[in-house]
Amino acid sequence: MIYHKPLKIKDGDLIKSATVENNQIFILARQAVYYFFKNSEKRRILLPGYLPEGVYFPFSELGFKKMYYAVGSDFSLPDDFPGSRSADDTIIYYIHHFGLYNQKNIDKLKQLKSQGYYIVEDRALTLPSADADYFGDATVYSYNKMLGVPHGGTIISDINTEDYSLEKNSAAEELKSYLSLRMNLFCRSGIKLMPQLFFRLYNKIAWKFINRKANNLSHWLPATGLADSAIVHLIQNLDFQSISEKIIYNAGYLFDNIRPVLRLVPDRRMYTRQAITGFPIIVDDPQDLQKYLMKNGIHGFSLRQGWRPAQNASKWDYFDKHFLLPVHNDLSKKDLKKIVRVVNAYKNAR
Ligand SMILES: Cc1ncc(COP(=O)(O)O)c(C=O)c1O
Repeated sequence: MIYHKPLKIKDGDLIKSATVENNQIFILARQAVYYFFKNSEKRRILLPGYLPEGVYFPFSELGFKKMYYAVGSDFSLPDDFPGSRSADDTIIYYIHHFGLYNQKNIDKLKQLKSQGYYIVEDRALTLPSADADYFGDATVYSYNKMLGVPHGGTIISDINTEDYSLEKNSAAEELKSYLSLRMNLFCRSGIKLMPQLFFRLYNKIAWKFINRKANNLSHWLPATGLADSAIVHLIQNLDFQSISEKIIYNAGYLFDNIRPVLRLVPDRRMYTRQAITGFPIIVDDPQDLQKYLMKNGIHGFSLRQGWRPAQNASKWDYFDKHFLLPVHNDLSKKDLKKIVRVVNAYKNAR
């Protein structure tokens, strides 16, 4: 039996997660999704209109008929969701954008599930935790984004009994070495705030290398492979619960101290129910902020690359202003204070 919920043990403490214990971990989540749906009888997928390439590519590669639903500026589902699509042939794909928790969406999806819809819950930008409100038939995790490990992604379902025995191949090995280089370039840096000179130099060199490699690997699906056993072991033994709690604390701290005008959504509960990948803020020029933060040794993340609006372009104007501040569990109180001070000063100066 495979659980796609974390295993709660005594006193509510979560030490190990069945999620990762019983399931195969691929190099990337998109590869797991690709394999999982390869033989699916359903061939139509209802995707959010604001989505990353890692979600788009597996379904387009598999030749699914892709349909999109509108994503509100607070990530709410449309009132008439899912429209006239039937539960028989359409899979609903729901992303917890940035890991934000949206109670209204979840209530709606639970109701749809009880009506027979097959629902994929994308938790790539959050972590398994004891308090998470699970509802999907299958759940996606991308540990490389959240845990400071270079690779590791999976999809979990109660009916997933497939045992993938994937041959080692050179493309997969190349992908893994490239991912280890990339690791520190995301918002979840896996390191503390760094001295600015080193950080900028590192970024410059690594990006050069990465861009070249990324082209060769063509969306990374052909380089499918399983995660290295050392990474799997690490993931299996991490205490997700305490990592989530620390991230939630960090997010709450930023919520309370960042100037309110910067917050993406005003509801504190959306940031503090489950781990988020980065604290989302709204600024006119995310790249300008990114540079400013980098000068101050703070590693934030602008979403311009890799995320796409599938619907009308006017929505993109809004989403184009998203920026993620670091909240990962290695940050100290001093780091958090610095982030608040620097970001608030930036806002005051502009
Ligand atoms: C919401 C979401 N789901 C899934 C993925 C795919 O994860 P991976 O990069 O591990 O394939 C990503 C990353 O692009 C993502 O942001």
